[in-house]
Amino acid sequence: MLKNFWYALCLSTEAKEKPIRVTALGQELVVYRNSKHKAIAMSDLCVHRGGALSSGCVKHDSVVCPYHGWEYKSDGTCVKIPSYQEDIQIPRKARLDSYPTEEKYGFIWAFLGDLPEAERPPMPVFSEYEDPKYKPLWGDYEWDVNYTRAVENGMDIAHAPFVHAGSFGNRDEPEVESYEVEKLEWGGDATVYLNPPPPSGMWGLLRGGKERPPVKTTGGYRMPNITRLQVCLPIGDFVLYVCHLPVSDHHTRSLWLQLRSFFTNKLFDRDSVGRVIKIFDEDRQTVSEQRPQVVPYDLSAELHVRSDAIQIDFRKMRNKYIDMGWEIDTSLIQSEYANMRALVIPSPARRENPELANSWVMQEVPTIATSS
Ligand code: FES
Ligand SMILES: [Fe+2]
Repeated sequence: MLKNFWYALCLSTEAKEKPIRVTALGQELVVYRNSKHKAIAMSDLCVHRGGALSSGCVKHDSVVCPYHGWEYKSDGTCVKIPSYQEDIQIPRKARLDSYPTEEKYGFIWAFLGDLPEAERPPMPVFSEYEDPKYKPLWGDYEWDVNYTRAVENGMDIAHAPFVHAGSFGNRDEPEVESYEVEKLEWGGDATVYLNPPPPSGMWGLLRGGKERPPVKTTGGYRMPNITRLQVCLPIGDFVLYVCHLPVSDHHTRSLWLQLRSFFTNKLFDRDSVGRVIKIFDEDRQTVSEQRPQVVPYDLSAELHVRSDAIQIDFRKMRNKYIDMGWEIDTSLIQSEYANMRALVIPSPARRENPELANSWVMQEVPTIATSS
C-alpha cells in the first residue's frame, strides 16, 4: 500500500454532511461535506482519547468528537474543547492530519501522503468522462483480496477464456497475440484483439450463428491502484475504470466507473451493473485464492510469459515507488503496533509547517526501507 498518491475514497453520493468512516491503506479516515458541499477527509482518530470522529457530527463546518465534544476544523486544528472552563488556549498539539481532497469523476479523492503540492503525482485522467457521447454509471465491489492482485487481474488478458468463459471469454481461442506495452508516465496499456465466444442463446439465433469479429480490447493500469479496460464493440465503446481501494492487506473495495457509448438510455443501467458485477463474481474465488496474497516485490518469485508484459510493467512501476520509501510497512504495524498504538498516514501539514514538528500526537505509519 503506497502513500503519496491520490486515492478515490468513496462514491460522491456516499459523502454527506453526516460524517462517514472510510478505511484506506489500513487506516481510518472520516469523510464529510462542509456547508459549501466540499468534501473533507481527515484522520478518524481524535488525539484526546482516540475517539472516532466519524461517529460524531458536524457543527459549523467542524467535526465534533462524540466522546468529549472536541471540535476540529477542516484543516485539522481543534477549535473547541468544551471541558475548558474559561478561555484557555487550545494546545498546539490538538490537531488531526487533514488530507487534500477533490471531487472528480463521481468519486471523492484524497491525497494520502505528506508531499508538497508541487511534488505530488497527479490525479489520473478519465478522459471519456468529459465526452458527452458516453453514459457514466457507478458501483462498487468488495472482496477479500489484496489490491495488487485485483489490479493485475483487472488487466490480465490471458485469464478471460478460463475465468470468464461464462461471459466474454472464448475457451476455444485462448492464445494472446504479441503486444507492446504502451508506456505512460503513471501507468501503461496493452491492446490486443480478442475473439469473442460464439454467439449463443437468443443473440445467436438473431445472428444466424454468424461468427463475431475480433474485438479490440485495451487493458491497462494507472498508479497506484486503478485499472482501465476499453472494449471496442461493433455497437460502440465500453470503458471501465476501477479504483481498487486498499482497505487492508486482505480486503479491497473496488470503486468503478463504467462509460458506454451505446445503450445510453438509463433503462439499460440495471443490466449494465449486473454485467460488471458478474465479471467481478467470476474473478472473486480465483483472485482470493492466489498466494501470496500480495504481488511479490521480487520479479523472479513468479514465472512470467509474454502475455504478462503489462503486469510486469505494473510490478516494475510499483517497485519504483516501494524503493522510494512510499510502501507502508503493514507487517510491522500488525506485529508491533496492533492495538497498542494508533498510527496515521502523514498529511502535507507535517512537512509544510516545520514549526509544528513537535505538535503531532499520533505517530506516522512506518514505511519499508529497501536496499536500493
Ligand atoms: S476522545 Fe475525542 S474528545 Fe475525547
Ligand atoms: Fe477477470
